[in-house]
Amino acid sequence: MSDIKKIKDEILNKLNADLNIESINQIKSELFGKKGKISNSFKNLGSLPTEERKKFASDLNFVKDELQEKINKKIQEIEIKEINSKLQNEKVDVTLPERNIVQGKIHPVSQVIDELSSIFSEIGFSVEEGPDVENEHYNFTALNTPDNHPARDMHDTFYLDDKKELLLRTHTSPVQVRTMLKGKPPFKIIAPGRTYRSDSDQTHAPMFHQVEGLHIDKNVNMGHLKGCLTYFIKSFFEVDKIKMRFRPSHFPFTEPSAEVDIGYELKDGKIVIGEGDRWLEILGCGMVHPNVLKNVKINLDNYQGYAFGIGIDRLAMLKYGINDLRAFFETDYRWLNHFGFDPLDVPSNYRGLSR
Ligand code: DAH
Repeated sequence: MSDIKKIKDEILNKLNADLNIESINQIKSELFGKKGKISNSFKNLGSLPTEERKKFASDLNFVKDELQEKINKKIQEIEIKEINSKLQNEKVDVTLPERNIVQGKIHPVSQVIDELSSIFSEIGFSVEEGPDVENEHYNFTALNTPDNHPARDMHDTFYLDDKKELLLRTHTSPVQVRTMLKGKPPFKIIAPGRTYRSDSDQTHAPMFHQVEGLHIDKNVNMGHLKGCLTYFIKSFFEVDKIKMRFRPSHFPFTEPSAEVDIGYELKDGKIVIGEGDRWLEILGCGMVHPNVLKNVKINLDNYQGYAFGIGIDRLAMLKYGINDLRAFFETDYRWLNHFGFDPLDVPSNYRGLSR
């Protein structure tokens, strides 16, 4: 017993010191480790005479529990001390001046996509998406543009393989095909997104943006097409009157087809819409060709409709007076700071969509 008492006093003495977790662990293994003092005493029990053994075992257990409890208490104390000192050291000083924050700007193209999505959604269009890497079938053949059709040359296509099966979509029109194949009419969708052609000058970039529109239902006609586009253009430019002209044109996937130009004027090198005698072509449209509807198994006796494809970058140039398209994609922060939009500013024609 005197041995046990010695161990106990010695440990209690040690525990009184200012300890950290490592020194506590050391004490623990000194007592309870393989060759620890308490573990050894238990091992020695066997060599004691029976009468002594019982008493010694009970004393030993008692001291063991007592020390264990003291050690646990000490660990708790240390942990609380550590937390308190952490709280003290990591205190946030709310009176410090703030760091400089550089706020990003929304690119005019993203802004215009937001605006046009909200305008079209107001008149019942939903938004669809398609892949940038398209196959030749959806981009051309299903759109009534077979091999050797001259319109294929006009598109300056970026092909991705020798067989010319995979390509970067040259327009958003393949989304028409994808949408009609996966659903049942009626359809009333727009599909904004990136498009690609090997072309570059002041009003053309190899990567640009279009929004496709498609409305198929029982009695949809050219009058609806004109009404829809006029409504869109007026809402988008926030004007009651606008100079717009529908010119007869040709697209393989529409019959009849038209192109729409917007009237504008250059004032001090800046574009002003609705005045002057210059015209900028911004979209192609028409009644969906019966061959396209056949390709997606739509019954021509019951359904017909119109489609359109609008150049989004051109819309942005016209609305926000930007006269060089190439600057859109040069990622020059000075340009973006000037022409970009503050994410927290709500535009005057904001209609409550997406942001
Ligand atoms: N896909 C045509 C182009 O990129 C634009 C277009 C014209 C889309 C007529 C249409 C359409 O949906 O009906 O030049």
